[in-house]
Amino acid sequence: MTTTLFLQSEIQDPYSLYQKMLYQNPIYWDEENELWALYSYDGCVTILNSSVAYIPEINPDNEQGLNSSALQIALQLARLSNGIHHDIAREVAMFLFSNMNVMTTNKILKELLKKGENGPALDWVNSVCKQLPVVVVLKSFDFNDKDSLFITENIEQLTKIMIPNKTQEQIEFINRIAKKIYSLVEKQLINSGLGNSLVDILSKKHQIGAEKVMSLLVSNLIGLLIQSYDAGRGLLSNALLQILNKDLAHLELSNESDWIQRIVIETLRFDPPIHTTRRVAVEDIVLNKVVVKKGDKILLVLASANRDANQFLNPQVFDTNRNNNGSHLTFGIGGHECLAKHFSVRLATDVLQYLFEKHKSIALLDDKIEYESLSNARLPKNILISIE
Ligand code: HEM
Repeated sequence: MTTTLFLQSEIQDPYSLYQKMLYQNPIYWDEENELWALYSYDGCVTILNSSVAYIPEINPDNEQGLNSSALQIALQLARLSNGIHHDIAREVAMFLFSNMNVMTTNKILKELLKKGENGPALDWVNSVCKQLPVVVVLKSFDFNDKDSLFITENIEQLTKIMIPNKTQEQIEFINRIAKKIYSLVEKQLINSGLGNSLVDILSKKHQIGAEKVMSLLVSNLIGLLIQSYDAGRGLLSNALLQILNKDLAHLELSNESDWIQRIVIETLRFDPPIHTTRRVAVEDIVLNKVVVKKGDKILLVLASANRDANQFLNPQVFDTNRNNNGSHLTFGIGGHECLAKHFSVRLATDVLQYLFEKHKSIALLDDKIEYESLSNARLPKNILISIE
């Protein structure tokens, strides 16, 4: 195991490692992986705000052999693009986002809980977290039940489109599923007429034709589904774990929504679903007298920055009353800042509020939590709970 690119499945407490690095080596050159790892809040903020730190290419010259549908999606995602391509893709993603119908999560949660019941135990991750955020996005774009089912059943494999080092098996699955998901999403966007108004705006501003706008819309709606699946799943998991592990549920719920929202926000700082993101320097960048050279790779350890004592008082303490918890870096900042940050906090708050309102006794059945073998995200594989 190296200190920077370990798998979250292989480490019980990544935070003690981050604490050590923050203290000894906040800007660390990892010789083995040939990258800079940034552990400090200031370092991460500087790079996130830098106009010369780009999102790295994950599949240069299509060396991974993605087919045309998969490649079309990957190349047009706001999350993976830079410069003018990013400006346009982000505009498209924001347009889609602002056209989502508002959904109440209660009914969806109730159905998922019912479906997931298995005797006294329920696996919160598989029954709720992996489904609910994606179902909410699908429903808010009016997908029918059949298409929604197909997409929710296959989205997990498609999320691998975002990772740099894919296995052959992952590539084959992406290639198998991308065309079908692309065509389902395209059909839904055509039926809803969403593309037309955007064609006018974008073709005037950037000289883009209708076909290209449609393909940007399809790719970025798929992007919203991918982001909901991974990160949305993690936030719902980690926030529930904080409540159950710390036995916070017994607290007086006089102002429930606010209380739960504060737990969700502090979870984003203290135990975030996303731990790292990446950049590459396209010019020399000076960071605390260290020169990050043009072409150097940079790993931003956001989860470590969230525990930086220069930013947060007693950072190792889960404290919902700290007044700057919301300045965590879990959603990124700058040009690529997550456009769904308020949506994600609201969603997790609503779900947990409903859960604790309807069920007065919720307990963790197994406190040994295993994590997915991912390096950038800390996502519990299962959380077994009893609900009464
Ligand atoms: C707790 C949940 C979430 C977390 C922690 C999260 C985190 C992030 C982070 C860290 C970034 C920026 C990456 C970077 O700068 O390198 C990002 C970008 C993005 N997120 Fe989220 N996200 C969450 C939920 C969502 C959801 C639910 C959606 C969609 C419905 C979404 C859509 C996006 C998009 C489209 C971008 C790309 C923005 C751009 O590059 O301009 N996120 N997210």
